[in-house]
Amino acid sequence: MPGTKLLPVCFLLLVLNLVLRCPAAAGDDHQFVYSGFSSSDDLILDGAASVTSSGLLELTNGTLRLKGHAIYPTQLRFRDDQAAPSGGAAVRSFSASFVFGILSAYPDVSANGIAFFVARSKDFSTAMAAQYLGLLNGSNNGNATNHIFAVELDTMQNSEFNDISDNHVGIDVNSLFSTNATNAGYYDDGDTTTGGGGFHSLTLISHEAMQAWVDYDGEAKRINVTLAPLNMGKPVRPLLSIPYDLSTVIPDMAYIGFSSSTGLVNSRHYVLGWSFAMDGPAPAIDIAKLPKLPREFQKPRSKVMEIILPIATAVLVLVVGTVLVLIRRRQLRYTELREDWEVEYGPHRFSYKDLFRATEGFKNKNLLGIGGFGEVYRGVLPVPKCEIAVKRVSHSSKQGMKEFVAEIVSIGRMQHPNLVQLLGYCRRKGELLLVYEYMPNGSLDKFLYSQESKATLNWVQRLGIIRGIASGLLYLHEEWEKVVVHRDIKASNVLLDGGMNGRLGDFGLAMLYDHSANPETSHVVGTIGYLAPELGRTSKATTLTDVFAFGIFVLEVLCGQKPITQDSEDNQVMLVDWVTEHWNKGSLAETIDAKLQGDYNVDEACVALQVGLLCSHPFPEARPSMRQVLQYLNGEISVPQLVPAHVSFQMLSLMHNEGFDSYIMSYPSSLESISSRLVQER
Ligand SMILES: *[C@@H]1O[C@H](CO)[C@@H](O)[C@H](O)[C@H]1NC(C)=O
Ligand SMILES: *[C@@H]1O[C@H](CO)[C@@H](O)[C@H](O)[C@H]1NC(C)=O
Ligand SMILES: *[C@@H]1O[C@H](CO)[C@@H](O)[C@H](O)[C@H]1NC(C)=O
Ligand SMILES: *[C@@H]1O[C@H](CO)[C@@H](O)[C@H](O)[C@H]1NC(C)=O
Ligand SMILES: *[C@@H]1O[C@H](CO)[C@@H](O)[C@H](O)[C@H]1NC(C)=O
Repeated sequence: MPGTKLLPVCFLLLVLNLVLRCPAAAGDDHQFVYSGFSSSDDLILDGAASVTSSGLLELTNGTLRLKGHAIYPTQLRFRDDQAAPSGGAAVRSFSASFVFGILSAYPDVSANGIAFFVARSKDFSTAMAAQYLGLLNGSNNGNATNHIFAVELDTMQNSEFNDISDNHVGIDVNSLFSTNATNAGYYDDGDTTTGGGGFHSLTLISHEAMQAWVDYDGEAKRINVTLAPLNMGKPVRPLLSIPYDLSTVIPDMAYIGFSSSTGLVNSRHYVLGWSFAMDGPAPAIDIAKLPKLPREFQKPRSKVMEIILPIATAVLVLVVGTVLVLIRRRQLRYTELREDWEVEYGPHRFSYKDLFRATEGFKNKNLLGIGGFGEVYRGVLPVPKCEIAVKRVSHSSKQGMKEFVAEIVSIGRMQHPNLVQLLGYCRRKGELLLVYEYMPNGSLDKFLYSQESKATLNWVQRLGIIRGIASGLLYLHEEWEKVVVHRDIKASNVLLDGGMNGRLGDFGLAMLYDHSANPETSHVVGTIGYLAPELGRTSKATTLTDVFAFGIFVLEVLCGQKPITQDSEDNQVMLVDWVTEHWNKGSLAETIDAKLQGDYNVDEACVALQVGLLCSHPFPEARPSMRQVLQYLNGEISVPQLVPAHVSFQMLSLMHNEGFDSYIMSYPSSLESISSRLVQER
């Protein structure tokens, strides 16, 4: 029969297995070896301890503040003399060997430790985790009634137990205050005549498996603890060799096992193999058969994390999102248009951020006025500290921008004491910001039409302003490298600097409309009352249309009256016609601003009035050039005699072009407005 042949083999295997793995009940020459573990091993496991499917004895599972124990199931007899009363006989020699590994969630962050123990009790329910290693608690630590001997492999330096370092091996007797301790490591076998080789430290938390031996010599009463990397074998020289009598510590019958705990750091503690022998060296562990340590620490997915993680993630996403939105908004707030070709204009380019700050975010309290092209704000640049006026011009068209900016930059190069200096520009989407020097006294019209008498300009100031503007205009027309037509000369475009000198502003701006305009349509730019009659027909601005507007301006300054006024019968009266009428009647003195109270030079007034009338002549050919105007005003040449029957402006304009007159009539309401500018498509 085949069965009878197999039976002895099976029996032999069974015996072998028993001898190797779990020799039965307590005996005198007790010994065992586990080269890897299996869930069928009847070890007593508590707390977080378990045997993994890969054969590792896992004492802690990565969760915080846990303890775990693995205890050999039967009590072992630690004293020879069974007849003698407890504590009477010496403790037998014993030897343990084990392979262990410590994994921390964070490399190099301490993770408590593992202890091999011999103890009277297998109940560790009242022991504490973390630094107590699951062995003792705060109230029984150090009490001789504990009857615990342990060898700790500790990765934390707990000052409360006078730990020497965060990587030490300690001998603990009833207490976590180690009797003796030393840093983890081993002595190589090297030259044994000099007592062994050099010391090599080992890092308990290195995530590498290593082997430990605990040997107690019952006769010599000496405890040896030895550590070594895996595969190296037991070094000859122990790491610790301490004379100590365990007779008062270990009782007759005691349990052996491992204890481990976690504190505030996620960590796992493993035992890979274990052997033990009474009265002799512990059998060798078959290193080749040992399970492998997990390479990486895998963080446990606890319930708490399952709840906290999504919330934390959501919060993080929200915070990051908000921050991004804020950053974006901040970016958008200061966004500018800046193109490669602008590089050459370097110093003329201002950053929007600087202008935004200079004007305190374009606050209303800094608003100086609203002109035809946009609002003007006062601002202060920090370095060098200077006042500026920032004009925001809305500009939707990208077309012609390059030419326009080039124009602005060339305007920026213009320098004349009677021009408001353009300092630079800044470009944003749909908006252009022009930066000018700041004129502390504001615009001339405020002085001319102010109700307050003290704000009134005297004769010298008025004549000075007229001469100044004439000189500025001459610069634009003839002295600058190319002819610049201002197109919008009027009292509100004349600004007064600190010395009450007239300065022409807004020059060159009309070009914006030219460059951005559809070439099919042309625009009349200017202000009603200052528009030369031929503009109604040709729409073409020339230096002579500027001279016309200048003539009206001169009369305005001399007479202190607006170019067009209403009379008592609600008819519109042109200032030119009114002055011409008095001229013809020879009652010129009546036209001079009554606010001067007759305090003026009659000859100068006469010349100036004549110049005003000559400049505002309906026929462009009859008007003088700005150079001539200055010569008249300076008395270098005399003003030519006006045609005696100087026909009324309105009559002439009617003759010139019917449409122009009706066009004036159709915008009566806008006359009073300071922004009574007209951009009319024809
Ligand atoms: C670890 O062990 C403790 C105690 O047994 C248990 O409550 C916990 O769920 C375990 N954690 C994991 C990740 O297995
Ligand atoms: C500490 O352990 C001892 C022995 O197990 C137990 O009697 C005691 O109640 C424990 N004390 C605390 C505070 O847990
Ligand atoms: C040690 O423990 C025993 C029993 O638990 C107790 O009676 C004794 O008071 C303790 N000694 C000290 C010093 O705490
Ligand atoms: C071990 O500890 C004892 C008592 O603290 C001490 O006297 C002895 O020198 C120590 N031995 C070693 C090797 O550290
Ligand atoms: C303990 O170590 C000492 C010193 O190396 C050695 O002489 C002794 O034999 C060792 N004892 C045991 C039980 O290994």
